[in-house]
This record gives sequence, C-alpha cells and structure tokens, in this order.
Amino acid sequence: MILEIRDIYSYYGAICALRGVSLEVTEGEIVALIGANGAGKSTLLMTLCGVVRARRGAVIFDGEDITRRPTEKIIRSGIAVAPEGRRIFPHLTVRENLQMGGLASRDPERGAAGTAKLAHKMEGVLELFPRLRERLAQRGGTLSGGEQQMLAIARAMLSEPRLLLLDEPSLGLAPLMVRQIFTTIREINESHGTTVLLVEQNAHQALRLAHHGYVMVTGEVVLHGTGAELLANEEVQAAYLEGGRKETKQGETQQRETRQ
Ligand SMILES: Nc1ncnc2c1ncn2[C@@H]1O[C@H](COP(=O)(O)OP(=O)(O)OP(=O)(O)O)[C@@H](O)[C@H]1O
Ligand SMILES: [Mg+2]
Repeated sequence: MILEIRDIYSYYGAICALRGVSLEVTEGEIVALIGANGAGKSTLLMTLCGVVRARRGAVIFDGEDITRRPTEKIIRSGIAVAPEGRRIFPHLTVRENLQMGGLASRDPERGAAGTAKLAHKMEGVLELFPRLRERLAQRGGTLSGGEQQMLAIARAMLSEPRLLLLDEPSLGLAPLMVRQIFTTIREINESHGTTVLLVEQNAHQALRLAHHGYVMVTGEVVLHGTGAELLANEEVQAAYLEGGRKETKQGETQQRETRQ
C-alpha cells in the first residue's frame, strides 16, 4: 500500500469539504476518483499535499505519516501533482517549465552532474510527450490547451514521483486529445511504474483505465471497487456515465477514422 488515507476531515473555514474520507492506493496502480462538481476531489488532492490541512485523520505515504508535513517536504518524498487548470508558467518556455519540475526532484544534485542528470531525465520524459519535444523553445502560454496539459504532466514527471496526482487532466479538451492524454497516463503507469491517483469528470474513460476507483459525493466516499465493477454499477451508470459514454463513442469513431 503506497498511500492510505484514514478518516480525513478538511475544512475551508466553517465549511466541511471532506467528511471522513478513507481511501487506499496500491503501489503500481492507477486509481480513479470520480464525483460531481464540488464533491471534494480537488480538496482531497490538496490535503494529500498539505496545501489544505486536515483537521482530523491521517495520510500515510509509503508507511510514513505525512499528515502534518510541510508541502515541500511531501513533494520531495515522492508525490507530484499536475493541478486542476494546469498552472504552467506561461512566460517560460517549455524547456524552462520542465526544468522547474526537475528542481522538485527527490535527490537534486548541483553542478555539472546535476545538469547532466536533469538532461537525462528530460530525455526520458520527452519520450512520452513527442509534441513537447518539438516545442521546447515555445512559451508555455502559447501552447494549445492539450499541450499545456501535457506540459503540466511532464513537469510533474520530472521530479520522478512514486505517486502522481492528476486533477482533471482531460478538462476542456477535444475527444481526440482526451484519448491521447489517457493513453499517456497508461504509458506513464506501465513504463515508469508510477502509481497514479487520477481525478476525473470523464468517468467512463477514467474507470476503463483505472485498476480501482472511488466515487465521492459531498465530501464522502460512497462507493469503491475495481474500475470494471464501478463501470457495471447501476448507480454509477445513472449518475456519471451518460455523457461520458457518448463522448467516448465520438472519440472511438475519431480514432478509427485516424487509423484508416
Ligand atoms: N478555497 C475555498 N474556500 C471555500 N470553499 C472552498 C474552497 N475551495 C473549495 N471549496 C468548497 O469545497 C467543496 C469541495 O470543492 P472541490 O474543489 O474539492 O470540489 P471538486 O470535487 O474538485 O469539484 P470540481 O469537479 O468542480 O473541480 C465545494 O463545496 C467548494 O465550494
Ligand atoms: Mg476539482
């Protein structure tokens, strides 16, 4: 078990955003977290990173209690996040944005050795994102929405995390780009062995990709199971899969067309 969230309560002032959330992530898995707007998904990710402080409960990462650790220490212990809304640096180039990710590495080295190591890591990450390789000198703010999302994920990968937190990576993207992002997440998980906790509105594709999934409603986990179990669950289908399925059909049609 790489991550264990035990009975977490988080607040914004008097508003209770997480009400006793418990969740487990096994090393090497992709775990999807789905739920409607305002359910508390982003709050859960922010609580994991210590940006929002849990009032009760515990976060155990790799056997250690990180609940009260400062955010930068949590990041250095091997958790990286690609936050909602991407948050890349628009005025920096793609290369510079990626270098910022390298600074958050678990074992930063200084001097020539550090530079060589960063270049090597960047090479590894760029293999996952060929579109970014072509755009290393371009400013982040001029990338398309999908490319910015890829940059945010690539930057998070440069810190070589053991656990990658993704907050709605497919938000606002066209179906074809959504598929690409999901394919890349699978590749990251399979080729780098990175454990992924994926927050998504696009429930159908997220659950197809994920080994396990959790469903949140107003600050609580109401269901969990394997991706396949949740896809087959009637409540999940009624609440989260209607729009998602339509979108997937479009995406599949598009992909078939591209292949021909
Ligand atoms: N900074 C804040 N101050 C006060 N309330 C907040 C703040 N951030 C979030 N909330 C509230 O906490 C609840 C959970 O929000 P959160 O952003 O975690 O939801 P979410 O599941 O990520 O939703 P979405 O799918 O829309 O991103 C919501 O009711 C939201 O209004
Ligand atoms: Mg959110």
